[in-house]
Amino acid sequence: MKRNIKLGIFGFGCVGQGLYNVLHQTKGISAEIKKICIKHPEKKRPIDPGFFTVNREEIINDPEIDVVVELIDEVDAAFEIVSAALKNRKAVVSANKKMIAEHFTELMELQRRYSTPFLYEASCCASIPVIRNLEEYYDNDLLTSVKGILNGSTNYILSHIFENNMAFGSALADAQKLGYAESDPSLDVKALDPKYKLLIILVHAFGIILKPEDIFNYGIDHIKDSDIRYAREKNSRIKLIARCAKVNNKVYAYVMPQLVSESDTLNKVAFEYNGLLLEGAFSEHQFFMGKGAGGNSTGSAVLSDISALTYDYRYEYKKLHQRLNHSYTMDKVLEVFVSYNGGAKPDTSDFESISVRHESEEFNYLVGKINLVKLAGANWLNEAAINVMLTEKQE
Ligand SMILES: NC(=O)c1ccc[n+]([C@@H]2O[C@H](COP(=O)([O-])OP(=O)(O)OC[C@H]3O[C@@H](n4cnc5c(N)ncnc54)[C@H](OP(=O)(O)O)[C@@H]3O)[C@@H](O)[C@H]2O)c1
Repeated sequence: MKRNIKLGIFGFGCVGQGLYNVLHQTKGISAEIKKICIKHPEKKRPIDPGFFTVNREEIINDPEIDVVVELIDEVDAAFEIVSAALKNRKAVVSANKKMIAEHFTELMELQRRYSTPFLYEASCCASIPVIRNLEEYYDNDLLTSVKGILNGSTNYILSHIFENNMAFGSALADAQKLGYAESDPSLDVKALDPKYKLLIILVHAFGIILKPEDIFNYGIDHIKDSDIRYAREKNSRIKLIARCAKVNNKVYAYVMPQLVSESDTLNKVAFEYNGLLLEGAFSEHQFFMGKGAGGNSTGSAVLSDISALTYDYRYEYKKLHQRLNHSYTMDKVLEVFVSYNGGAKPDTSDFESISVRHESEEFNYLVGKINLVKLAGANWLNEAAINVMLTEKQE
């Protein structure tokens, strides 16, 4: 690709404006914004109105535009934009994890058929360069586990609850005000957003392509004050953890809240930060931390992808092409803490073993081992009066 590139951007919200800011403060990259497509022309914008259009074609069909940057908060429209751009042989950068996770196979096919790159570093952990590291550095079969805090918004909420005794609703409102939450906050609190990110990580870490419905996710919206008190008594915090790991040739994955003890590296990952622990056969533990949300930090990852395009970088999907023969399994035993009240109860026959049972007027809970297959299929899981969290001890 030529070294002085022209960009067509879709979206000028939190990330779009972040990209504008970082692009204008970075000297090392020769990229210029030609047009920005938005949805609501009546909105006041902080830059020259001449940049804006509501007509997609002005970007997609402009032969001068080399790179389309998709930063909108809609899924169907984003997929249409990205598909049309790739078909017109324009390289694409996106941060839209939901769109990527839902359309992974089609997006791979479009890249192959039109020989055009599609990069999406900002979609996983915003500013942490996870995808390129998984592709380039961990380009072999030695990686065994990726575990982390992948959602800045829920981490921000949980940090406020633990550090400042803030109520859930106020912490969420604060996260939204600062641009850390998705426009639809249920994507964050119900753990869908980190699940989409985990789906992308699974491809680059283990060469496994799954659909969102294949992975178990359980959010932070069942957590009660009594669960927070329990965590504090154990000198732990609650974190929303996404994990995928390999045992022999089988890979399991889930997203769930977990009690994280003080000695755990992820305990210190607070507020809008994300943290990722990678485990390899010989490298042992490696830890990445960085801002997982916010305009400028996400914009900087988008800019890094734009810069990578100037030296013709593209994902090779090394793990997929290595034919590693990994298969996905949900057959994994987890140790969980389950709290319940008001007549709601977990079905104890679903558990392989129960090591602690506590029942009192204020607080009922048990600690036990349960297979992920059983947990995912349990009806009691959806009761608002029941909360499930992983304990600190997971193999
Ligand atoms: N915020 C973060 O920290 C963060 C981090 C990582 C990844 N992401 C991802 O980045 C993307 C953008 O997030 P955001 O927080 O910047 O969203 P946002 O603040 O809600 O902004 C969305 C932008 O998209 C525009 N838009 C929506 N539908 C459109 C359409 N059909 N055609 C053209 N423009 C359209 C909106 O136009 P108007 O301005 O006219 O309304 C707005 O400018 C999302 O996929 C999100 O998941 C966000």
